[in-house]
Amino acid sequence: MLIKTAEFVCSNTRVDQLPAPTLPEYAFIGRSNVGKSSLINAMTLKKGLAKTSQRPGKTQLINHFIINKDWYLVDLPGYGFAQTSKKNRADWEKFIRRYLTKRDSLQCVFVLIDSRHEPQKIDLDFCCWLGENGLPFMLVFTKADKQSNVKSDQNMALFRRALLKWFEEVPPSFLTSAETKTGTDEILKAIAEINTRFELPAVEE
Ligand code: GTP
Ligand code: MG
Repeated sequence: MLIKTAEFVCSNTRVDQLPAPTLPEYAFIGRSNVGKSSLINAMTLKKGLAKTSQRPGKTQLINHFIINKDWYLVDLPGYGFAQTSKKNRADWEKFIRRYLTKRDSLQCVFVLIDSRHEPQKIDLDFCCWLGENGLPFMLVFTKADKQSNVKSDQNMALFRRALLKWFEEVPPSFLTSAETKTGTDEILKAIAEINTRFELPAVEE
């Protein structure tokens, strides 16, 4: 898919203030600092579109970007941010989980996982929660430029194997780097394919 336009729309903490759910929507989620905002910038070829930082906890809101005036890409705050209080973490849980379960136009959740590490419980738990809630997701392994492909492939295989304890089938996975843009075309291709099947969610009477 060619990116013609990519624009910031709004930031929110409340699900009832989001843009009308009339376009297909895709959310990027994962541990704090895993590279969600950086990958959004790499995919859209727009460096400063989503705010990034070396310090975890940069993204704090639900951020909507509109791509080609045709679909939404959503940057979410990361989970597992150690420096935050229990109260903050509970608030995060509440508003993100509410967004994910209530957003009718959400087509797929992209779960970002650091390709440098062996499977982490927090990521596996999050995938299980998505599965339990019937939310379609795909796996995006990040920061591939930081180590050899052999190492990345090993960690990806370990993660997929770990998921098979809970899932009959493991969703598609992508190996990516925001530095080299590896894998970004593949994600855009998957999105383009889902876009062709999008139907407006039924309006509740
Ligand atoms: P929060 O918003 O805090 O949850 O973080 P995030 O997941 O949005 O991460 P962000 O994109 O802000 O990136 C965190 C750090 O990792 C930054 O210093 C990025 O430059 C770096 N980074 C992200 N992706 C890559 C990548 O593919 N390769 C390399 N080498 N560094 C990356
Ligand atoms: Mg971010």
